[in-house]
Formats: sequence, C-alpha cells, structure tokens
Amino acid sequence: MSRDAELKRILVTGGLGYIGSHVVLSLLLSGRYLPVVIDNCHNAFPEAVKRCNEIARDEMGADAPQATFHRADLREPETIEAVFAEYKAAGGIWGVVHLAALKAVGESSELPTQYYKVNVAGSISLLEAMAKNDCNNFVFSSSATVYGTPAVIPIPETSPLQPESVYGRTKAMVEWILQDICRSGTDERPSPLKAVSVRYFNPAGAHPSGKLGEEPRGKPGNLLPLLAQMAVGREKSELKVFGNDYPGSPDGTCVRDYLHIMDLAEGHVLSLDAMAVAESEKNIFSKCDPKKDGFYRAFNLGRGAGQSVLTMIAAMRKASGFEYKYEIVGRRTGDVPDLTANPALAEAELGFLAKRDLEEMCRDLWNFQTKNPNGYEQTA
Ligand code: WQD
Repeated sequence: MSRDAELKRILVTGGLGYIGSHVVLSLLLSGRYLPVVIDNCHNAFPEAVKRCNEIARDEMGADAPQATFHRADLREPETIEAVFAEYKAAGGIWGVVHLAALKAVGESSELPTQYYKVNVAGSISLLEAMAKNDCNNFVFSSSATVYGTPAVIPIPETSPLQPESVYGRTKAMVEWILQDICRSGTDERPSPLKAVSVRYFNPAGAHPSGKLGEEPRGKPGNLLPLLAQMAVGREKSELKVFGNDYPGSPDGTCVRDYLHIMDLAEGHVLSLDAMAVAESEKNIFSKCDPKKDGFYRAFNLGRGAGQSVLTMIAAMRKASGFEYKYEIVGRRTGDVPDLTANPALAEAELGFLAKRDLEEMCRDLWNFQTKNPNGYEQTA
C-alpha cells in the first residue's frame, strides 16, 4: 500500500486563498492528511498549491504528500460532484474543510444576493454532495463577526450569534444549517454528519518560508496587508485610522485578537484530529445530546489577547522599519470596539494553543511581502 493510501483525504474548498492555502500546508505537514483543493480562482492563484507542495518537500523530503488542485465552483454543483467521483475508487474523500466564500463585509451589503448564493447556497450544495458520497466530517470556516457587538470580552462560544452585516449573517446561517442537519436524525438513525465550526479572529502573518502569504487583489481592505504593502511601496495611499474614541481601548482605537496564520491553520488540523478519534474514545462529541445538538461543536480560534490599531502599526514599524504616517478619521461603519476571543474551550477540547506572538506575525508578514513585493502572479 502506498503511503498516500494511509492518509485521510480532505477536500479543502477555497484552498488557494490566504487561510485556505495555509490550511493545505498544515494538512500536508501533519503527515496525516492528503488535501484535495478546489477553488474557482475568483480571488486567488493556483500558484498557492504549487508553493504548498514545494514547502512540504523542503520540510519533509522528496516523498512528502502533495496536494492536488481542481478548478470548481460551488455555484455549479456538478463540478463538485465530479471531484468526489474522481476520488471514489481511491478510497474517497474522508472530510471537508470548507473555506470557499465571499468575505468583504462592506461589499456584502451591496451584493447580498451574491453573498447568500455563494456562502449559503454554496454550502448547501457542498453538504448535499457530501451526503451523496458518504462523507460525514465537516470543518466550517466561520468568523468572530457572528458575535456582532458582544456583551462579554473575552468572548466565549456561548455568546449569542448576532451578526451585524450580510457577510456575518451568511456565516451564522451556515452554522445554524449545520446544527439543524446534525440534529435531524432519529434515535434509531442519528444524522451521520459531524461538524465543527471554527470562528476565526483576525488572522495575520505568513508561513516563515516567505513562500506563502496573503495576496489580496486590488487595494487591501484589512489593516495588516495594507501596512505591509505600504512599507514595500506598493500601496501609496494615506493610512487612515478609523476612530480613536472607542471606550475600553488603551489608546481609543479598535481592539482585535490577531493570531498567526499558521496557528489558525493548525486549528483546522486539530479539529479534524478530534473528529477522527473513534466514537468509543472520549471525543469532542461525547457531551453532545443527539436530539439537541447532534454531533455539532463550535470553537473560537484566537490568542485571547487584544491589540489596538496603533499597537499593530507600531509592531509593523518595528518589523519593516517603515515610518507610517497616519491620520485619525471617523469610525468605519460596522466596526465594533473589541473582538477578543476566549480560546479556553479550543484549548481544553482540541488542544489548540496559539504559539506565535505579535512579533512573529509581523516578521513573517514582512518576510513574505519583501520576497513577493508584487504578489504571486508577478513572481510565479
Ligand atoms: C482591523 C482594525 C479597523 C484598515 C475583518 C472582517 C472579519 C474578518 C477579518 C473575515 C479595525 C482598523 C483597518 C484601515 C484602520 N474577516 N483599520 N484602517 O474589520 O477586524 O475584520 O477581517 O473573513 O469578518 O470584518 O479587520 O483588518 O479590516 O481591521 O484603522 O485602513 O483596523 O477599523 O479596527 P476587521 P481589519
């Protein structure tokens, strides 16, 4: 039997994107999983998979497992079916990490139909394809934005889901759909689906090799890629800090829980590991009441440490040496004062502990940016 036949095959939707590609790499490096990437290349490049495979060979040797890539779109379910069919004879697909989605909060209020179609209807098509193919392990890429403006900081998973944007609602809806499917069985025939939603806080940084990182098309909307592109001279616009009158912040600017992208990616591997544990053993579903919850769990993936916008600017200045000039402007619509995770549940049940600090995030981001000043497309 070849080594690959011993690995669990995982379909990674959106596997070319910033988070997806680091998840693919972590799956390869774990030595337990074999990623099959699907992506529609809407906002990403196939080069990302090549680079994942290259890093895996660099770190594990010439016979490292290698990811495969298929261009497919969740809005065309037959393209997803074809991928399941292709791997059937080779043992099939054991689980899915579902990241493919539209993700711009501002855009989501302008294009709600598109967002519901891709993020919600697309997830349903994927779940249907899984059911048809007896694939019952699902990790869903959710977001801290499902908490809206939370009452308790740091935020526990029991905080109510009160998303305030269309984007956030699409993520909460998929979580609710998963819960409903998971508890849809009967005593005699429980639903076979096991699902974990991982609620991301603010991912940052890049793989330390400098070969894999974030490659947004157009002007970055998020703070850290913007700071990185400014320092390398690619983004020349003025830096605007959105509000310095937020209560509870050390300097009045918004507080976020930034975590290293490799820590976040490893959280997905741990979620799959937790699902792979035999039912007879203690596992993350042992406390689930099949009628109330089915086999469904949600976990925060964050560091549990909040940082203000000005702290992040200072950290990127230290990493890059670039003197940022900024202007304080009014608050950005939709921003909430503080999104800091309570990661205790993920630590206790998944063994998740973000190991890399702020300095490492900024150093690795800067390393990627200087090695790929114009992104993958131009350096490929
Ligand atoms: C961080 C902080 C801004 C740009 C978003 C999504 C969220 C998740 C991650 C999911 C905020 C401030 C930013 C700038 C600034 N995405 N800022 N000037 O908004 O916390 O989270 O990305 O897929 O759902 O909402 O991240 O990086 O945009 O902002 O002052 O030019 O930086 O106000 O406080 P955010 P961000």
